[in-house]
Amino acid sequence: MTLEHGQAGPRTDWNAWHDDYADPGSALSARLVVVRSEIRRALADHAASQTDHAASQSQPVTVLSACAGDGRDILGVLAEQDERLPGRVEVTLLETDRRNLDRAERFCRDTGLTGVRLLDRDAGLSNSYLDAAPADLVLFCGVFGNLTDADVRRSIESLPALCRPGATLIWTRSRRAPDLTPSIREWLTAAGFAELSFTAPPGVQGSVGANRFDGEPAAVPPNQRLFSFVR
Ligand SMILES: C[S@@+](CC[C@H](N)C(=O)[O-])C[C@H]1O[C@@H](n2cnc3c(N)ncnc32)[C@H](O)[C@@H]1O
Repeated sequence: MTLEHGQAGPRTDWNAWHDDYADPGSALSARLVVVRSEIRRALADHAASQTDHAASQSQPVTVLSACAGDGRDILGVLAEQDERLPGRVEVTLLETDRRNLDRAERFCRDTGLTGVRLLDRDAGLSNSYLDAAPADLVLFCGVFGNLTDADVRRSIESLPALCRPGATLIWTRSRRAPDLTPSIREWLTAAGFAELSFTAPPGVQGSVGANRFDGEPAAVPPNQRLFSFVR
């Protein structure tokens, strides 16, 4: 799963990283089940609140995924065409591996999904979000485990700029020792994110969090480095 890139040190092959999804018994597949279920719940909640507020019915629900991979979490849910989901959803995926974007593009074509922007952009740069944020649903899945602790914290402190009021954030993090998730949950609370759920089954290292943004909205700061992958 890892490749050597000259002097740059070991780097993960992020295309091959997705191979574990092919095994329904893998930890990654188990994680996907939880992430999709949180996505369904968030989208259904947004659809219900739109019904409550007739004035906002014409507004699409917006989804932003940082380091989206091939986007199978959000795209897989939208392809289900569940009538409880919002009628209009606009999705932006930020991803730097062209092979993953190509797979997402193929999936959209094969399933007839529209309203999906596939952007070959560095999600660690604030400028990448200038025309993509704030969103109603923000996905940071498979991100925090690839950053230094300081970058995880900096990213969390930047999340208010990516979220509309009441937005749902879904994130994942391994709990391998030393487990950073207690700190992540505290940093999220401090940044204005109320915890909706934290799924961390005994016996597995993965965890999935869902939080609602109740804090003060913020503008995307220009020209900031939010994080860099270290793997
Ligand atoms: C662990 S995978 C997670 C993929 C997807 N979110 C998921 O959970 O299935 C991390 C992804 O981030 C992408 N990536 C790495 N650095 C990135 C960056 N600076 N900006 C955008 N994408 C990046 C990789 O190509 C890879 O597809």
